[in-house]
Amino acid sequence: MFQSARLLNLVLLCLLESVTARSKPSIVGSFGNVLTDLMKQQESEPKEERHLMHEYDFIIVGAGSAGCILANRLTEVPEWKVLLIEAGGQETFLMDIPILASFTQFTSANWNYKTVPSGTSCLGFRNAQCKYPRGKVMGGSSTLNYMVYTRGHPKDYDKWAADGNEGWSYEDVFPYFMKSEDMTIPELAKDTKHHSTGGYLTISYTPYRTPLAEAFIQSGLETGQNVVDYNTDTLIGFSFIQSTMQNGTRCSSSKAFLHPIRNRKNLHVTKMSTVTKILIHPETKQAEGVQFVRGGKRYIIRASKEIILSSGAINSPQLLMLSGIGPRRHLESLGIKVIQNLDVGYNLMDHMALGGLTFIVNQSISLRTDNILRNPDNIANYFAYHKGPISVAGGCEALAFYDLKDPKNPQGYPDIELIFLGGSFVSERTLRENVGIRPELYNSVYKPIEQYDTWTVVPMLMRPKSRGRIMLRDRNPFHKPLIDPNYFQYDEDLDTLVGGVKKAIELSKTKGFQEFGTKLHDTPIPGCKKHVFGSDDYWRCAIRHLTFTIYHVSGTCKMGPKWDSGAVVDPRLRVYGIKGLRVVDASIIPEIPVGHTNGPTYMIAEKGADLIKQDWGVTTNNIT
Ligand SMILES: Cc1cc2nc3c(=O)[nH]c(=O)nc-3n(C[C@H](O)[C@H](O)[C@H](O)COP(=O)(O)OP(=O)(O)OC[C@H]3O[C@@H](n4cnc5c(N)ncnc54)[C@H](O)[C@@H]3O)c2cc1C
Ligand SMILES: *[C@@H]1O[C@H](CO)[C@@H](O)[C@H](O)[C@H]1NC(C)=O
Ligand SMILES: *[C@@H]1O[C@H](CO)[C@@H](O)[C@H](O)[C@H]1NC(C)=O
Repeated sequence: MFQSARLLNLVLLCLLESVTARSKPSIVGSFGNVLTDLMKQQESEPKEERHLMHEYDFIIVGAGSAGCILANRLTEVPEWKVLLIEAGGQETFLMDIPILASFTQFTSANWNYKTVPSGTSCLGFRNAQCKYPRGKVMGGSSTLNYMVYTRGHPKDYDKWAADGNEGWSYEDVFPYFMKSEDMTIPELAKDTKHHSTGGYLTISYTPYRTPLAEAFIQSGLETGQNVVDYNTDTLIGFSFIQSTMQNGTRCSSSKAFLHPIRNRKNLHVTKMSTVTKILIHPETKQAEGVQFVRGGKRYIIRASKEIILSSGAINSPQLLMLSGIGPRRHLESLGIKVIQNLDVGYNLMDHMALGGLTFIVNQSISLRTDNILRNPDNIANYFAYHKGPISVAGGCEALAFYDLKDPKNPQGYPDIELIFLGGSFVSERTLRENVGIRPELYNSVYKPIEQYDTWTVVPMLMRPKSRGRIMLRDRNPFHKPLIDPNYFQYDEDLDTLVGGVKKAIELSKTKGFQEFGTKLHDTPIPGCKKHVFGSDDYWRCAIRHLTFTIYHVSGTCKMGPKWDSGAVVDPRLRVYGIKGLRVVDASIIPEIPVGHTNGPTYMIAEKGADLIKQDWGVTTNNIT
């Protein structure tokens, strides 16, 4: 088992190694930089509030991607007193180090969820369960994620609006992407129609690239694709990743939106505090307060204006159901008194993918985490300048969007994204533990190539038809809910992914990749040997075995108009039938946008904050 001690050990070992290499004074100096970084982090985060008040104007549950933005925007109103409640603890400087992105999942900063075994997906993982990490720390999942920043396609939001969500068309939401942004990539910042500078959220390129990532971009050009800025209206094409990174370090939502306002007197933050129930008056249906547990002690705090759930797409539906808001039959079967019958927990969406598609090269140019961390020069370079291979977030370097149904159309609507990693299962020990790959599968397919240099493309399904569900296991708020992603409910989802796999293989045959002698690793997965390696049936089987979540779980408290029977919140994000309660996070997403979900969640929170201000008569900054 990988434990946080193991992580610390590895890092400290490297630091010690660098410190003991006394012949290089610059390296010794780097240790001092580490301590400076560490202290900076501790000083910048808002302090834990010891003396809580009995009542606040607003209570925000969850300091994740969305919660930190809400805390910032609502406390812009000086007379509003806001309490931000977070189940996890402080973000540490180790979580800031991009290459350690995959390690962080093995610490207490992860809720450590797993899907229920299904028999049709996640078959190559222990107990046929997919791991579903979620951030339990200041910054939430933005403190664990791979920092890929994408906004989605205009059509995504126009569909939201067409389905009756007034105010959520692309034109409506676009200003909120711009509002957060501080684009630091000079050539993109020049495009002021699509990017802005001076916002709280820093976007940059990773300061290091492998030659393999360059080959990936070249492979796009060679096959007739364009290099694009995918955060415009044109997504089809290739690009290095635009990353939520600040000077080579993670820019989590806490760092972006809370550190700069840590001295605001009207914001109180309580960490290591798990909300167990929202208190709702059974007759008036007014949300009155929350109950939470901190250090074994139970607290009840009231909200005079509103309670805002920003606990993420697993915990927000869990909390609603625990509080009596959810599907009547399910709640009654657990003995929970129903206050409002709503389709809470349904409509779970994720971008699923094939993991483990591995290509072997003949030169040592890939990212091998152990080697990188063992090299004192890399450590010194990182702590002195925040540069070098340690600044690559979990190996993710570049991406491409395809519309496989309309391949020649540069304005197409992506159904596949390819994520390029300059490494693989065999070069990154944590990656295989992140998914919990079965040892016999690993040993027969991957162990034989452990000493090789490799790269991976992860083909991801952009517009899944399949829908899953979150349910309560029982009435205990500390028990993990049941997560059934229901992957591949529709064959179409599987078929589109197979198309993505074939694209990746096509790219591996281009000149750029062939210069490094690129070869598809073709040892079959034991459970798929009955199919000819490389046939469509083989890939379908491989996808069912190495089913990767891209961690984009969303949609479980669906936003929709009054006539949508599956809707949990209205287009102003108010929970139907309840007064003073909103959900503002990835769970309100009615249909998952293409790309990644952190950028869209930031947009939802920025817009949500304005909706709240408008409803309480506060003028908002010229954004309608
Ligand atoms: C490993 C990983 C990699 C990812 N990679 C990317 C990527 O590269 N790019 C991208 O765009 N997206 C990525 N994502 C997805 C993205 O990070 C999420 O979609 C986004 O962070 C969701 O934001 P949220 O505000 O809805 O929830 P979260 O950020 O998860 O925030 C929820 C917060 O609520 C807290 N909370 C929950 N329950 C309670 C409770 N009962 N009491 C108190 N507090 C509570 C949690 O601890 C957490 O801090 C990734 C996610 C993960 C996990
Ligand atoms: C980036 O970080 C390094 C290392 O701490 C520091 O020396 C440098 O000044 C920083 N650059 C910017 C632009 O902040
Ligand atoms: C790698 O393979 C390519 C293509 O076969 C070849 O040209 C090159 O010389 C090889 N490089 C090494 C280091 O073996």
